[in-house]
Amino acid sequence: MTEPALSLSRNDDFVWDTFNAAWYQEHNYGTLRPDDEEILQTVRDFFAAVYAEDRPTRKWHGIDVGPGANLYPSLSMLPFCESIRLHEYSENNVAWLRAEIQGGYGESWDAFWKILTENPAYRSVEDPRAALKKIADVNKDSVFRLDEVKVEGGSLLDLPAEQWDVGTMFFVAESLTGEKAEFEKAVRKFVHSLRPRAPFAAAFMKDSAGYFVDDQRFPAVAITEADVRECLTSLASNVDVRVLGQDASLRDGYGGMIIATGRAGDN
Ligand SMILES: C[S@@+](CC[C@H](N)C(=O)[O-])C[C@H]1O[C@@H](n2cnc3c(N)ncnc32)[C@H](O)[C@@H]1O
Repeated sequence: MTEPALSLSRNDDFVWDTFNAAWYQEHNYGTLRPDDEEILQTVRDFFAAVYAEDRPTRKWHGIDVGPGANLYPSLSMLPFCESIRLHEYSENNVAWLRAEIQGGYGESWDAFWKILTENPAYRSVEDPRAALKKIADVNKDSVFRLDEVKVEGGSLLDLPAEQWDVGTMFFVAESLTGEKAEFEKAVRKFVHSLRPRAPFAAAFMKDSAGYFVDDQRFPAVAITEADVRECLTSLASNVDVRVLGQDASLRDGYGGMIIATGRAGDN
């Protein structure tokens, strides 16, 4: 009998701590790409509209799951939040995020912020660098532990654990594993960590065959917009799923980007 080939495809099979954050930031976000600009516009207008509609009595507590070396999901929540948890698994990415935010983030993010300020809700933030520094809380943790997270101290104390008012998760669920079941679990954990009706935005690579960060290979599940829709429909309401950037020029081996917005269900 032939032994099955050993294949590395689960989240645990990869060494996330050595993720080259500086390389990743420069390669993906050194300049603002048209596909990220379109995602920013979608997410910006969605969060601003929900905030105006819900008129919360206090600002939201937000979470960005797997931020890596990307600040724009956090920036998209900035005017609406009194705290943002950056829930990141990789040691290198955590160190990069802390240094980048505490030092006053780099100039390359100004182009991203400029797109956000085309919506008046964002113009209320006078100094986004200082605002992010003040409310960001970078934590080393896994998406798979989201429902075990007990928030201690600080402004989240008055919230029931694991229930955020707004959330983002960009290029994480399909890009942390080669297994469809783990992709679905990551999406489920993310949406379940939000309070009922909390708005969220999640972005995904379409048809990805995995990716390199510098010389290190990471896995992916080749999902489509139908997979995202199917996964979110049972977890959320007002789900809107769009495909963009189908010229797929960022790197080889993917078929565009998928952006999904919606409101968390009743869990
Ligand atoms: C392709 S990167 C996406 C980074 C960033 N969100 C972006 O928009 O570019 C995938 C991210 O998922 C993180 N990740 C991997 N496994 C994780 C886990 N179990 N829990 C949370 N994040 C994880 C990686 O460290 C990395 O930051």
